Order: sequence, then structure tokens, then C-alpha cells
Amino acid sequence: MNENLDFFTQAKNLKSEFSQASQSLDKNQLDRAIEELRIAFLGRKGHVQSLFENLKSVPKEERPEAGKAVNELRGYLESEIEKLKKTALQSQLGKLLDKKPLDVSLPTEPIPGAIHPVNLMKNVILKEFRRLGFTVYDGPEVDLDFYNFSALNFPDDHPARDMQDTFFVNADKPTVLRTHTSNIQIHAMLNEKPPLRIVAPGRTFRCDSDLTHTPMFHQIEAFVVDRNISFAHMKGVIDQFLKAVYGNDLKTRLRPSFFPFVEPGAEVDMQCVSCRGKGCRICSQTGWLEIGGCGMIHPNVFESVGYDSEEFTGFAFGFGIDRMAMLKFGLNDLRTLFEGNSKFLAQFPINN
Ligand code: FA5
Repeated sequence: MNENLDFFTQAKNLKSEFSQASQSLDKNQLDRAIEELRIAFLGRKGHVQSLFENLKSVPKEERPEAGKAVNELRGYLESEIEKLKKTALQSQLGKLLDKKPLDVSLPTEPIPGAIHPVNLMKNVILKEFRRLGFTVYDGPEVDLDFYNFSALNFPDDHPARDMQDTFFVNADKPTVLRTHTSNIQIHAMLNEKPPLRIVAPGRTFRCDSDLTHTPMFHQIEAFVVDRNISFAHMKGVIDQFLKAVYGNDLKTRLRPSFFPFVEPGAEVDMQCVSCRGKGCRICSQTGWLEIGGCGMIHPNVFESVGYDSEEFTGFAFGFGIDRMAMLKFGLNDLRTLFEGNSKFLAQFPINN
């Protein structure tokens, strides 16, 4: 027994050595210190392995007991290492939780850049419509043919339904990138009951590109449905909102025109700001630039949404926001708005 004392003493000493070492770990690099401790005691060349090798020197009859002792020691050290790792993790988490929490809702530093001229224009327009008591409405940019065309009284063979004019998304269940914001009239009328006073800005899409046309552009739709609404009401609202945007200087005119969803219908032109009506290449030498269409809502549209056209009348108009921005800021090419040149886009005044 005495001969074995050395071996068992070694095992006992190893346990207390471990206990001492585990109490003086470097707190600044705790994970690393625990790993080094593990390697020193339990690694391939560690103390426990040496003890296993010393088993040879233990008398044969005592070896099972010695083997059991060293196995127990290994199990004990492994579980102690796991405990140390767990405590280290908890203290790291505790430190993180003690830190001042990050409030992601706080305002950021001012972001360099500017509001896009189209959004500036839209904000000015919406402000005026809100003042006139209109509600702002939204609608889908990808829509069924029904909302964009059929319910708006477009016949099946209308040229706007042509592939050259409209981006079709799905021909089987005809789906289009909306060609105008007038689809919102149908969504709104199907969802709400009259009286209505609605304004709806949004992105629109057509196969178009030149000085005054882009394939993606923005429109603002406004419509009113009530009893006894007349063309004069419409003219008054259009006048009011254009004056709010441009002041009283620029002349506007209504020119008779056809849209399947209104009767009568008209085009709204503004005097060209570039030449002040004299004629230039922007206005194709006419002195005028078309900014929108308008008219009294067609009885067939009321039919398609289940409104009684004997009881209710209404007007609608749709304006190109980009064209309005072009006139407001004196741009000579609409496409510059969408080329992403931030120096160009940042130069427009905010306080309109
Ligand atoms: C329409 O889109 C009708 N939905 C407007 C309307 C609404 C009429 C309600 C009656 C009642 P039009 O196709 O004319 O109409 O387009 C209206 C305006 O959108 C144009 O006057 C122009 O300012 C703008 N616009 C049209 N196509 C483009 C384009 N490719 N790029 C930029 N602006 C465009």
C-alpha cells in the first residue's frame, strides 16, 4: 500500500493544483486561460496523461483501484472545466447586458443629400390637397387589367392596351404595370361609399422615352364623387392647386380631349416655363406643355363599381408629377430626374 502512496498522492496533489490554478485565471482573457488550463491538465501531454503512464509502476493488484482513481480524477477535471466555461460565458453576457442599451429609435446624424425633386413636388401638391380636405389614398403598381383598363371603360381594342404602350406582367390573367394612377379610382370606389374626396400619388409605367417622357414616371390622381358635382367644381380645384404650386404667373388652359373613363374630358396644359409661351424644342414650338388629363367620371365607370350614376356625379384628374417638377424647376430634359446624378438632384430648393 505504501508503495502506492506516491501514485495516489500525485493524483490528490493534481486535484489541489488544479483548484489553485483555476482560482488564479487571467480575468482579462478568461476563455484563453481556461483553454490553457484544460490543455495543461487534460491535453495529450498533460498531467492526467502522465498519471495514466505512471500506472505501470503501481503493483498489479492495486492497479484497478489506481486506474479507477485516475479515471475519476479525469471526469472531475472535465466537469470542472465545463463549469468554468459556463461561468465565463455568464459573466460576459452579464457585462453586455450591463452596458447602456442601444436605442435604435433615436434620430441619426443628419444624412447628407437632398429630397428628390419629384418628392419635393409631390409634397407640395399633397399639402395643398390636404388643405382642400382630400384624403390621401394608395393603390397597387402591379395591377389586374380590370382595374387599369376594363373597369375604366377601355374597350378591348383600345391602343393603350397595346404591347407598344403597356408593360404586361402576365398575359394569361392579364396583369400590367399600371399605366396611370386612375386604377386607384376603381380600388377606392369599390372599397368606399360616396361622398369621396381622394388624392392618390404613385409610380406609373409606359413604353415611352424622350425629352418629356420616361418609362417610369409619377402621377397624382384626384377625384371627387358626390351629389351635384359639376365641371365648374373641377376647374376650381385644378386652378386652386396649380396656383398653390406655381403662383399666379403661369397661364393654364383646358383643351377638349378624350379619355374613355370621363365625359366630357379635357387635357390641362401649362404655359412652357422655358420659353414663356414663345415656342421652343421642349414644348415642340407650341408654347404649352401638357401636364394632365381631366373630366367628369363616365357613367359606365360608376356602373362598374356599383354606384348609381343617376344619383352621383364626380370629376377626376390625373397629372404628371415629373412634368410639374420639370416646369417648376425649369428642367429641359425629364430624363435627368432618373439618371441618379446626386449633385444634380441635390440643387433644388426645399422650401416651396
Ligand atoms: C392619363 O394618364 C389619365 N389617366 C389622366 C386622367 C385622369 C384623365 C383622370 C381624366 C381623368 P395621360 O396619358 O394624358 O392621362 O397622362 C397624364 C399625364 O401624365 C400627362 O399629361 C403627363 O404629364 C404625364 N405623363 C404621361 N406619360 C408620361 C411619361 N411617359 N413620362 C412622364 N410623364 C408622363
